Amino acid sequence: MQHPLWCGDGRAMNDQPDTLRFHIRLERPDATIVFEAREDEYLLYSMIDAAIESPYICEQGWCLACAARLRSGDVDRSDALTVYPEDADAGFILLCSTKPRSDLVLVQDEHGTRREMTQHRIEHNQLARAYPPGARSRFRRGRARANTGGR
Ligand code: FES
Repeated sequence: MQHPLWCGDGRAMNDQPDTLRFHIRLERPDATIVFEAREDEYLLYSMIDAAIESPYICEQGWCLACAARLRSGDVDRSDALTVYPEDADAGFILLCSTKPRSDLVLVQDEHGTRREMTQHRIEHNQLARAYPPGARSRFRRGRARANTGGR
């Protein structure tokens, strides 16, 4: 595991200087929050670094606790244990396993978006009751940068 050394300006000394950072606008029922997210980190952890609370459980893209909707922008969802094109068509993302590829506008109701995504998967017969075939060999949990050495 890589431990950061801090520069004093919020940047880790071992950050790559050419790492892209994107502006994320998160619209919630009670507030709109703006934060910065690295291209090489899952959105959930950029939120945690910015002291923004969000529900999460599995940190693997499986339980749907961290569901949000993508209103605009481009993301990489490919690290989620469960990822379906129908989710993307409906604008759902899982913050624990999605990396930004541009500035984003996200919508999240911490109490409602998980239910909406669960219902969406039920309607498309995609609600995972067990790990998908082969998922165990891709096991990861937590930050993207801390897990890249184990792949
Ligand atoms: S925390 Fe489980 S899907 Fe994100």
